Amino acid sequence: MKITMIGTGYVGLTTGTCFANLGNTVICLDIDEKRISNLNKGVLPFYEPGLKEMVEQNTKEKRLVFTTDAKKAISESDIIFITVGTPSSDDGEADLKYVFSAADTIGKNMNSYKVIVDKSTVPVGTADKVKATILKSQAKKVDFDVVSNPEFLREGQAINDFMMPDRVVIGAESENAKEVMVRLYKSIERTGKPIITCDVKSAELIKYASNAMLAARISFMNELSHLCEKVGADVKMVAKGMGYDTRIGPRFLQAGIGYGGSCFPKDVKAMAFTLKQYDCSAKLMDSIDEVNEMQKNYMAKKVESVIPQIKGKTIGIWGLAFKPRTDDMREAPSINIINSLLKKGAKIKAFDPIAKETAQKIFTGIEYCEDPYETIRGCDALILCTEWDEFRELDKEKMKSLMKKPLIFDGRNVYDPLEMRQAGFEYYSIGRK
Ligand code: UGA
Repeated sequence: MKITMIGTGYVGLTTGTCFANLGNTVICLDIDEKRISNLNKGVLPFYEPGLKEMVEQNTKEKRLVFTTDAKKAISESDIIFITVGTPSSDDGEADLKYVFSAADTIGKNMNSYKVIVDKSTVPVGTADKVKATILKSQAKKVDFDVVSNPEFLREGQAINDFMMPDRVVIGAESENAKEVMVRLYKSIERTGKPIITCDVKSAELIKYASNAMLAARISFMNELSHLCEKVGADVKMVAKGMGYDTRIGPRFLQAGIGYGGSCFPKDVKAMAFTLKQYDCSAKLMDSIDEVNEMQKNYMAKKVESVIPQIKGKTIGIWGLAFKPRTDDMREAPSINIINSLLKKGAKIKAFDPIAKETAQKIFTGIEYCEDPYETIRGCDALILCTEWDEFRELDKEKMKSLMKKPLIFDGRNVYDPLEMRQAGFEYYSIGRK
C-alpha cells in the first residue's frame, strides 16, 4: 500500500518505518526542512533502539522516503496518517493546531479517494473536526474517510510494540475505510493479536482511557508507598501480591519517583479537561495528576530530610531520562529533583547513557560525567533516577571507595535494602523500610 505519514516525530517516524519494513511504500512528510534533510542523511531526531538501522535499510530499498513536498506525498498515497504533535495548553487541553494544519494540507492536495487516519493522540470528537477542516479546504470535491487508529507504542520498545501489539484499534464509520485499515494491519493479525474495529469516538477514547488507567495504577502505588514507609511494609511485595490477582495483573504497579514522558502527564490532564468540558466529574483524573506531581517532588524532600544542610554538598545522579532506553526528558522526575537540589545550593554530577545531550539543553549548571563510577567520585550522596540496566549490578566496594559518604537514594527500588545495608550503605528507597 502507499502511505504518507504527516509529521516525522516519534510516532510518525517509528510507525512509518515499521510500515515500510512490512513492504509498504511510505512517504514521511514534514514541514521542517532541516529535519527532512537530516533524515535523508540518516540522522534521526531522537533515539529509539533499532530504528536507525531500520530507517537505513528501508531507505536503501526505496520503500521509505522523506520529503517536504506535500502535493506529491498526498496525491501519490492511498492512506494518509496524521502523526503530528498534540502538546498541552496551559489548562491541560490538547492543542490541536498541528492536527488541523495537517488536515488543511490534506484537503488542499487531495486528488482522489483517501483514507485519512488520526494516529496522533487526540480528544474524542477530533475526527469530526478533521473531516470538517478537510471539507473546507478542498479545492474540488473528492471523497474521503477519516478513521481513528491510536498508537500504543512505548518509547524504547516501539518497534516491538508495533510488530507485536497487544491489540490494534481501528475506529471507522465506513466499511471501505475499515477494510483498507484491516488489510494494512494484516501481518499483525497473523501474530494472533486482535484487530478491534469500532466507531470512531470509542477508538479515540480507548487511547486516552488506556493511558489514564496505566497512570492511575502508578499513582495508586505511589500513594500507597507512603503508607508502606510509615508502617514498615514493602511496596514491592504489596505490588507482587496484588499482581497475582488475574483481575489486577502485575504490570505498571511499580512505585517510584513519578511517571514522566510526553504521554501520561499530558494525556491525564487532557482527559480531565475533556470530562470537565462535558460537565462530568474529573475527580479521579485530577487526583492521578496531583499524586504524580507530589511524587516527583518527594525524592528531593527525602534527600533534604536525611541531609539537612544541602548547601555545598555534591550529589551524584544516575539516570536523567524519564525512563530507560530513551533520550527523552520530557516531564522527567529527574528535572524536579535536580532543580530542587540546585536551588538549595547542591553541586550536581550526573550520568545518563543516552540523555546527556537532551539534558544539556535543560541544565547548564551541572557537571556531566561519562560513566557511573566517575559520577559518584567525591559525592556526599547518590540518587538513582532512571533504572538503566547498567546500574543494576554494582561494584559496591568501588562505590564506597569513591563516594565521600556511602549514601544512596534509590528512586526506582532497583536494589535490595538488606543487601545494601549489609554492604555498608545508608540506603533509602520508595515505600520500603
Ligand atoms: C506510554 C504508554 O505505555 C504507551 O502504550 C503509549 O502508546 C504511549 O505512552 C503514548 O501515549 O504515546 P511511554 O510514555 O513511552 O508509553 O512510557 P511507559 O513505559 O508507559 O512509562 C511512562 C512512565 O511511567 C515512565 O516515567 C515510567 O518510569 C513510569 N512507570 C511505568 C512507573 O513509574 N511505574 C510503572 O510501573 C511503570
